[in-house]
Amino acid sequence: MRRCPAAPSALLLAAATLALLSFAPAAAALKLQVDGQAVVDQLMHLAQWSDDPSPAVTRLLFTDNDMKARAYVKQLMREAGLQIREDTMGNVYGRLPGSDPTAAAVATGSHTDAIPGAGAYDGTVGVIGGIAALRALREAGFTPAKPLEVVMFTSEEPTRFGLSCSGSRTMAGLLDPAYLDTLRDVNGSTYLQAATAAGYGAASSAQMVAGARRTPADLAAFLELHIEQGPELEKEGLQIGVVTAIAAPAALRVKFSGDGGHAGAQLMPLRNDASLAAAELAIFVEQAALGTGVIDTVATVGSWQVQPNAVNSVPRETALEIDVRDIDGPRRDGVLAAIKAKAAAIAERRKVRLQIETINQDPPAACGTEVVAAVEGAVRELGLSSKRMVSRAYHDALFMAQIAPTGMVFIPCRNGWSHRPDEFASPSDIARGIEVLALALAQLAGGSEGGSGSSGSGGARAEL
Ligand code: GLV
Ligand code: MN
Ligand code: MN
Repeated sequence: MRRCPAAPSALLLAAATLALLSFAPAAAALKLQVDGQAVVDQLMHLAQWSDDPSPAVTRLLFTDNDMKARAYVKQLMREAGLQIREDTMGNVYGRLPGSDPTAAAVATGSHTDAIPGAGAYDGTVGVIGGIAALRALREAGFTPAKPLEVVMFTSEEPTRFGLSCSGSRTMAGLLDPAYLDTLRDVNGSTYLQAATAAGYGAASSAQMVAGARRTPADLAAFLELHIEQGPELEKEGLQIGVVTAIAAPAALRVKFSGDGGHAGAQLMPLRNDASLAAAELAIFVEQAALGTGVIDTVATVGSWQVQPNAVNSVPRETALEIDVRDIDGPRRDGVLAAIKAKAAAIAERRKVRLQIETINQDPPAACGTEVVAAVEGAVRELGLSSKRMVSRAYHDALFMAQIAPTGMVFIPCRNGWSHRPDEFASPSDIARGIEVLALALAQLAGGSEGGSGSSGSGGARAEL
């Protein structure tokens, strides 16, 4: 990949020199070789394991396709010379040992599960790209002082059990095993049963959750590479987004139950139609988000299940899943409270029964200043254009921020699209993101250049 020409103005030159001075010499001197096209080839290879036909990617936790994707990720880790470890929840680690074996690790990573009808880049760029970054560092002869890890987090997407970020949430100590035991997939399986069938798990959910715990004592910093999933970088012609905060996500499950009946014989005044209650609430969800008057509040009714779902039957039960997010936690909580109050009022007026469950209500995360500084140092070192920004999507980084200083590197994606089959990020943007990631990780881990610079076999090798 080509580096950008040096900035022409004397002012910018002075700023770049200053940044170089503050960037550790060993990291600044690294000659990284990252081949964006080789990484894209690996992403396309991974995309073949999908429950839906190409170009859609659908990959649910612990399914056959997820297990095949995991095997491929482990193969790439091995080829990059990383030591592999898997935990009880199904998180997969690849580790490059540091010269100080007792030091807490500096980690990167993301997810490879994909919601129904998604694309090939969400999450996967941070896993395959994370492996490529560690490989490029090793091949450049860099020996980290602190160990470097790349993590394939288990189940960032909530599709199978309705719970997002199960792997990172557990690492952060924020998953209650008793709550996990209440969750079921469409076949009635628990997480523990599914994990055990996949070769993970433990004797109980409590042991499984305890087995994946990380603490500040063994994690020094975390940095995730991800496609932006929004249009800002592309619109503004910028190469890198330096994330400073991650918005607070929450999700509710709201179930209205009525008495149903025959669509012809049940007269209108006698009905208590569960879907009409849900429809009223869905319209209110939009109003509640718009009502804060702040562009950062978003709310979505993305899942709608009707029973018995037959054209000639009055809906007896309608379950909605409602996603509400904001960069301001209390403002997001105000919207959640308004939605719950409205659901109760609708249920009373329409004489339907109501059940509300809070699936998650997570706090926003602020990124660590040293991690943001490492990313900005790497951006300046590489002569790239960037801006600071907020992540409106959630990520495993949201939970890693609970235990370690955390940051994220965003790269542009076409039209800001994601969670769609036509997700796309260019090989050169991917390569730039990996270079920034690698240099920032080197800066955070400390270490020295001057090892053998030996190559592994195959995979993300490159010319610069
Ligand atoms: C992650 O996929 C999210 O929904 O933000
Ligand atoms: Mn996603
Ligand atoms: Mn993602």
